Amino acid sequence: MKVIAFVGSPRKDGNTSQIVDSICAGLKENGHAVEVYNLAELDNKGCQACDSCQANKVEYCAINDKMTTLLPKMADADCLIVGTPVYMMQVSGDTKNFLDRLFTFYVRSNHTARYLPGKKYITVTCSGAPAEAFGSVTEYLNQLFSGSFQMENAGNITAGNLMSKDDISKQQEVLKQAEDMGRKLS
Ligand SMILES: Cc1cc2nc3c(=O)[nH]c(=O)nc-3n(C[C@H](O)[C@H](O)[C@H](O)COP(=O)(O)O)c2cc1C
Repeated sequence: MKVIAFVGSPRKDGNTSQIVDSICAGLKENGHAVEVYNLAELDNKGCQACDSCQANKVEYCAINDKMTTLLPKMADADCLIVGTPVYMMQVSGDTKNFLDRLFTFYVRSNHTARYLPGKKYITVTCSGAPAEAFGSVTEYLNQLFSGSFQMENAGNITAGNLMSKDDISKQQEVLKQAEDMGRKLS
């Protein structure tokens, strides 16, 4: 199985990154190929609403940046992992910019999706507040991936009480849950 993972926190080796890495460690045990990208490093220019993708003027996206090169990789993958910290009660800006670029997978003319339907996805959200406070962010991501993109939910990790970069190390049970989630994916 090919897996592509995106981390929406600029904090290297922070909480989101560590949870995503744990999922990937579980996946790698079973020989799955995993690629992880940090969204802050992609220099994503953001969707320009040029409509080229919806007008089929390009296969994926008219923007000439690294993000465009990753869209076919997403189309080719079997599973997508998206991890985000909660910023101002929502996904981080880098994550939102990334999600906007997935417009190419949405078919506006008939409100369906292309390339992504049937693929698996996992979400990870990390907040400073207790986990229960931001179930809404996980719900939003599920609405997008299960709803708009007709993907199959392979797991959601909603973690909380994570203020400092390494707070997740005090919640080994969450890291174990993540590793198990990756290990069980097939
Ligand atoms: C700009 C900014 C906004 C944040 N907003 C919230 C928030 O609205 N609610 C919350 O619970 N935590 C908030 N946090 C805390 C982060 O969600 C939390 O520390 C998270 O674990 C960071 O993940 P990371 O270690 O992967 O960067 C915010 C942090 C930053 C830097």
